[in-house]
Amino acid sequence: MRNELSRPPGRLSSNAAATRSVGAMKRSKALRALSHQHHQGLFAALQLKRAGPETAVEARQAFLDFYEREGSRHFRAEEELLLPAFARHSGVDDPAIVRVLTEHVDLRGRAQDLERSADPDPATLRELGGRLESHIRFEERVLFPMIEEALPVEELERLGAAFARAEAEGE
Ligand SMILES: [Fe+2]
Repeated sequence: MRNELSRPPGRLSSNAAATRSVGAMKRSKALRALSHQHHQGLFAALQLKRAGPETAVEARQAFLDFYEREGSRHFRAEEELLLPAFARHSGVDDPAIVRVLTEHVDLRGRAQDLERSADPDPATLRELGGRLESHIRFEERVLFPMIEEALPVEELERLGAAFARAEAEGE
């Protein structure tokens, strides 16, 4: 892989700049679909973080499209499959599990609030964007490496197959 850091920062598009730290990571095959969805989430988060009076309606719609199309299902796959698999190794009260679940509840609540408000406050959108971004970065930088470390290859493969089944069922 080409070293992203050697490229002058000005030549990256804003989307690439938002997601390059995710893309630069080597990700096990089992978690790749989730990482791909994280890219989409980071793009929605970037639009939210930039929301102003002129762009609030558009940023809200971009986030809700992402959430309804894949974000909500992505959270469910992590809650139902990923975290229980990790908990068998780490224990259910591992701080990373507690953090991810708490943030899912927060983000789901904020998404529901946003569904009800057609004329959103830009500051609320920016706050959601910041929270979504830091949630995704925590999973990519901390949680996923812990899972890749803790789970034997066969368990990771089983998990990857379970994600694929859940994805196919949700379509
Ligand atoms: Fe995630």
